[in-house]
Amino acid sequence: DYSSRARLLAANDAAREFFIEQLMTPEAEIGRRFLGERGFDASAAQRFGVGFAPKGWDILGKHLRGKGFTADELTAAGLTSAGEKGSYDRFRGRLIWPIRDQTGQTVGFGARRLLDDDKGPKYLNTPETLVYHKSQVLYGLDLAKRDIARSHQVVIVEGYTDVMACHLAGVTTAVATCGTSFGVDHIKVMRRVLSDDTAGLGEVIFTFDPDAAGQKAVLRAFSEEHRFAAQTYVAVAPDGLDPCDLRLGRGDDAVRRLVTGKKPMFEFVIKQRLSTFDLNTVEGRVAALRAAAPVVADIRDPSIRPGYARELARLLGMDLGEVGRAVDAAG
Ligand code: GTP
Ligand code: MN
Ligand code: MN
Ligand code: MN
Ligand code: MN
Repeated sequence: DYSSRARLLAANDAAREFFIEQLMTPEAEIGRRFLGERGFDASAAQRFGVGFAPKGWDILGKHLRGKGFTADELTAAGLTSAGEKGSYDRFRGRLIWPIRDQTGQTVGFGARRLLDDDKGPKYLNTPETLVYHKSQVLYGLDLAKRDIARSHQVVIVEGYTDVMACHLAGVTTAVATCGTSFGVDHIKVMRRVLSDDTAGLGEVIFTFDPDAAGQKAVLRAFSEEHRFAAQTYVAVAPDGLDPCDLRLGRGDDAVRRLVTGKKPMFEFVIKQRLSTFDLNTVEGRVAALRAAAPVVADIRDPSIRPGYARELARLLGMDLGEVGRAVDAAG
């Protein structure tokens, strides 16, 4: 098995080089324009190894078979798919981000659609392979790990362009999940990066879009690991901007302020729970208390739990005793 792992990594590396060369072709003008419009110049693209997959059906496949890779190896690497008329390239007419593991080896790719008439998904990723496990990979971790370990802070963003924007703005602890929501496996990977630190990760800051999907991901991670939650923050940008758009519209400083303006996740989650109720009615407040009390009850750290009970009472305009009883009942 080891030798085939090595072959898949070699195929990925050769593909990475091919995609980078392709970004300079006339066909890739649309990709270079996309990067430019997002605020990324040629040196930014180079720093992150961004490339371009041409539109043909067997261009990468032919190139890599010419370098000695077998059709089976390319399919096993997720670079090609086996179709009725033979194998065809998985990524066509897309901008390409190589996804590296924390040692810097390319294990897969994220690929963005560039043409509106392309019927495929906006982002397409390498499928699960021997070397690519989407639940465990964090884009940018190879670049960020040293600063994460040094600062005990990790910033989790949604996309490849957001990682680029953060790093270029000086937030060099940013990483992203790859087309999947944040989960417990990602926490394990980050712990491994901080293996010298048994006390915990330090600060984990989520900067998800303030849309439903982004919040759901935060809430899921929150409910899956309590110990982790206590050091967790949420940074929501003004006007629903993601870090890439924020940098583009308001500059590097705004990206740095987004991170320094983080709010504790408990505060975020409690306000989230309350937001669906009408707090102007007794019925609404009682229902809101029932929805938010379990959040407070789940706070393990005894040094902050009473504070959140008081905060919840304040937000509801309710008596602390009443809130305390609801929290105890929920615990
Ligand atoms: P851009 O226009 O590229 O800036 O997109 P956006 O900022 O609107 O991206 P969005 O917030 O929708 O997506 C952020 C990240 O989510 C991407 O980098 C992908 O990893 C992932 N993602 C978004 N759309 C898809 C999709 O259709 N399929 C998959 N697998 N992942 C996606
Ligand atoms: Mn897997
Ligand atoms: Mn989104
Ligand atoms: Mn986004
Ligand atoms: Mn974006």
